[in-house]
Amino acid sequence: MQISKGEILQSLFGTQDQDYHMKLRRTVSGAFSMSSLVQYEPRVNDTVRVFLARTEELYAAPGKSCNFILWLQYFAFDVITEITYSRRVGFVDNCEDVDGIIAWLNKIFDYQAPVGQMPWLDKLFVKNPIMTLASKYGLIDNSSGTAKFSRARMAERLSGRYKKDSMDLLTMFLKAQKENPTFFDDGRLLTMTTSIALAGSDTTAISLAAVFYYLLINPECYEKLNREIDESIATGLISDASGIITWTDAQKLPYLHACIQETFRIHPAIAMILERLVPPQGMEIAGEFIPGGTVVGCSPWVMHRQPEIFGEDVDIWRPERWMGNSDEDERRIKKMNMVMFQFGGGSRTCLGKHIALLEMYKLVPSFLRRFEVN
Ligand code: HEM
Repeated sequence: MQISKGEILQSLFGTQDQDYHMKLRRTVSGAFSMSSLVQYEPRVNDTVRVFLARTEELYAAPGKSCNFILWLQYFAFDVITEITYSRRVGFVDNCEDVDGIIAWLNKIFDYQAPVGQMPWLDKLFVKNPIMTLASKYGLIDNSSGTAKFSRARMAERLSGRYKKDSMDLLTMFLKAQKENPTFFDDGRLLTMTTSIALAGSDTTAISLAAVFYYLLINPECYEKLNREIDESIATGLISDASGIITWTDAQKLPYLHACIQETFRIHPAIAMILERLVPPQGMEIAGEFIPGGTVVGCSPWVMHRQPEIFGEDVDIWRPERWMGNSDEDERRIKKMNMVMFQFGGGSRTCLGKHIALLEMYKLVPSFLRRFEVN
């Protein structure tokens, strides 16, 4: 859990309190629904447009190279700030890591990987009662980088210093707060914006980088995808009149879907086990009784490499496994879809899934249409 001025932010990811989780998730879920997505698309378009233009200015010349993973992180962060606060804070415009948040995230993930397995260490290093108290009284500030970042963005947005002319996540959260002020207080609202900064950028950037990586090392697939996009535009199936492929048009590109889905399969952004706690009375899982309090879970990397579901060539990136129209193909693809776990599953499944897909399905074809990547 992240921390702000000595207060531990009980987030959706971190809480073990099921009732609290359910209540918080229900309070904010409207902001992440498919119907809200339509309202965010123009915000994503703005960032895609700037991203393409800046790529051209900075990197599209012979001999120039680009740290593409970092560049995609800048893109993903700007989309998240656009969608949350109606304002791109300038990762892409200024080509910089605003407030050093990406550097901070890299550090914190290195910390979280081992400490997440030995959580008591966190009480010593970060959530230490002395540091927490000192932070509450303003003697030190042990706030998480994401909490500082989100506090600053919220202050900018609520100060009215810049014009906000569209729907954003913060508007939706403020609406939810009006309806439920006691439960969804300022602390919980900050918890949500902080969670989004933590959850929404790195995951999307990793997935985007992986799509481009696999396309580049599989030139025949790269060609095939380009052909699909070009032919769909030539036949009028989709349009790129604005230079950006719309979400609706991207749904008409089956090979694009296959490439993205295959990337999610072979390189899910979250590689750890997605943990769950067995309830106190214990439960039977896969034919075995597991005592209450046991931490159990699945790793997407393991689930996505089951030969009996995905075929013997599970270690190979092959988008064609997601193609086919026969009844048998449809049965096979349905079975694979049911096992896909890149966004987790059940009551804790990723809330930002639709936003992430919106970004990916727009950026990949729009980028390939404009540039040749090598
Ligand atoms: C490709 C990009 C993304 C991937 C692969 C991803 C993956 C995940 C995974 C694996 C979980 C845990 C699910 C579980 O335990 O079953 C999760 C949770 C979550 N994600 Fe994402 N995510 C992505 C993008 C986003 C974005 C863009 C946002 C916000 C705009 C977001 C917000 C969240 C939130 C709030 C949760 C906690 C849900 C809960 O516990 O109720 N994610 N995500």
